[in-house]
Amino acid sequence: MSNSKKLFLRAKKVIPSGINSPVRFYDPYPFFVKKADGSVIWDVDGNKYIDFCNGYGALLLGHRRKEILSAVLAQLKNGTLYCAPTDIEVELSELIVRNYPSMEKVRLVNTGSEATMTAIRLARGFTKKKKIIKFEGCYHGAHDSVLVKAGSGAAHNGISISEGGLDEVSKNTLVVQYNNSQELDSVLEKQKDVAGVIIEPVLANMGLVLPEKRFLDDVRKITKDHDVPLIFDEVVTGFRMSLGGAQKYYSIKPDITTLGKALGNGFVIAAVGGKNEIMDMLSPQGKVYQASTYAGNPVSVAAAIASIKTITKNKSNLYPKLELSCTILARAIKDLATDLRIPHQINFISSMFQIFFTDRPVKDYTTAKKSDAKKFKKLFAALLKNKIFVAPSQFETVFLSSAHTTDDLHKTIEAYEKSLRAVKT
Ligand SMILES: Cc1ncc(COP(=O)(O)O)c(C=O)c1O
Repeated sequence: MSNSKKLFLRAKKVIPSGINSPVRFYDPYPFFVKKADGSVIWDVDGNKYIDFCNGYGALLLGHRRKEILSAVLAQLKNGTLYCAPTDIEVELSELIVRNYPSMEKVRLVNTGSEATMTAIRLARGFTKKKKIIKFEGCYHGAHDSVLVKAGSGAAHNGISISEGGLDEVSKNTLVVQYNNSQELDSVLEKQKDVAGVIIEPVLANMGLVLPEKRFLDDVRKITKDHDVPLIFDEVVTGFRMSLGGAQKYYSIKPDITTLGKALGNGFVIAAVGGKNEIMDMLSPQGKVYQASTYAGNPVSVAAAIASIKTITKNKSNLYPKLELSCTILARAIKDLATDLRIPHQINFISSMFQIFFTDRPVKDYTTAKKSDAKKFKKLFAALLKNKIFVAPSQFETVFLSSAHTTDDLHKTIEAYEKSLRAVKT
């Protein structure tokens, strides 16, 4: 019996489903990780995989990036948690604000879920209104207001509204179709009690779904016209699509922004920021409450500063190289699937891509759901056999990191070729 299987049998006895976050499970059991470095990850049975899960997008600079490790090791010598302010929190917040001009102030939190929960509470506190609008298939974390027609693991496991969540909460979440700004406009025309509109500017939790031309501009204009705060959830796209995130990439200024993942390149940190008048609503100055023991912990802050500085130093090379590698991979996979006559779509942008097994363009939740999930499951299993690790769900995205080498790309294309043949059978 493999070491992973032995561990899974032990895990199932003490951890629900044997895993600590739903998408980590796949049939018959997931591999258990021994270690990771750069672009690769090893399991407890000695198998080595090229990692394209990349911490679900967090590891923009790959595993164990040396600048980040040095900053963290230096911080460890001075302590891990003070629960009192530090100079490095100020430095990090200045770095964030400099790169995201829509944020005049920023508060550090721990996870993306905490950031979006705070963003929504801020929008409600600021407007004194109740309802929020989200887009079908967008995932904003595991809390009640946003676990309505959410993507990611919720879509993967067929959970439209989570049991245990309150109807009183979910009925205040209105859902509109992604890439349909007209629907947003007409909902805002009818509903006068909307506190905020939250969106993933690039939908990376339904596979990968791109905003159509003008969609984000229209969303910005419509929310402005209706005087409703626009929240850009940049937990995935922040620092990944550019140093200034998707808002810089598309030149759009939201009212509130959430960051996470690549902000800490593998360390636990997230942030929520926006205009002064909104952010100053936060307690103790304001009456919108938000708090955390671990917020701004110096280890994660040191990692985030090192991440941003490393990205900044290398940005003229880093982003074009990531974009080129992603384009090469996506085009090669497209050609392979076309040659094999497998109906498919490939969506890609920046350092993210995903294949869907459908002959129709994928532009929202409905079209993404039409993709043949059984084929994706086969693809995932075959890729794993060929030592490529992507997230085990159609409704996740393949993420590149700056640690991927040309050799990794060649091996990945070869593995996709073998794996697509397996999908065909
Ligand atoms: C766009 C987006 N927002 C929020 C979250 C929640 O972040 P976390 O898992 O750190 O709570 C995620 C997680 O995948 C995400 O993709």
